[in-house]
Amino acid sequence: MEPGVNAYPKLLVRPVVVITTVSDNGIPNAAPFSFNSPISFDPPLYGFSCSPAHDTWRNIQANGEFVVNIVSKDFGELMHVLETDYPYEDNELKHAGLTEERAKKVRPPRIKEAIAWIECKFENSFELGDHIWIVGSVQSVEVKDAYWGEGGVMDVEKANPLSHIAGEFFAADAKGAKYRRVK
Ligand SMILES: Cc1cc2nc3c(=O)[nH]c(=O)nc-3n(C[C@H](O)[C@H](O)[C@H](O)COP(=O)(O)O)c2cc1C
Repeated sequence: MEPGVNAYPKLLVRPVVVITTVSDNGIPNAAPFSFNSPISFDPPLYGFSCSPAHDTWRNIQANGEFVVNIVSKDFGELMHVLETDYPYEDNELKHAGLTEERAKKVRPPRIKEAIAWIECKFENSFELGDHIWIVGSVQSVEVKDAYWGEGGVMDVEKANPLSHIAGEFFAADAKGAKYRRVK
């Protein structure tokens, strides 16, 4: 099988995060991202790839802060709501019925229902192809106690984090590594 060069992300299973930002008027925005990765330990840097048209990029350019919300399989059902292109300053968290919680070090809220939170301040950005690679300097990391395993890592089986393949195809179910479609 040779599915073509643009099919390459369909071979890379990636964690889904929901990134929260705020407008200058303090209105929250939330959007799912799967083109994302750790970059560096020292200093701690995190990066994700964002279409320049997204409100997420507009808000980060405006005030330079964001929260990376690590989400579980339960969020699979909410993806279609969170990825909807609502008008600017229309709060997706309200549409999705999610709860805003104060972040520790930055102004955008974190999502209470998430597994863990990585709070970032804008560090740098690079225009790469049709996306912007946004680099954040990590300010705070917190995970719910229930999902922090004995080995000092996320308890993947309990947390059951959501991963993305492409479009409506997600991977979850840490126990059997069963790949299934979540709508
Ligand atoms: C699971 C999933 C992963 C996504 N990953 C990305 C991504 O990595 N980069 C991107 O630019 N858009 C990605 N999107 C699309 C955006 O989330 C979507 O266009 C959203 O409406 C952007 O919201 P905003 O304009 O409020 O920032 C993804 C969507 C889903 C459902």
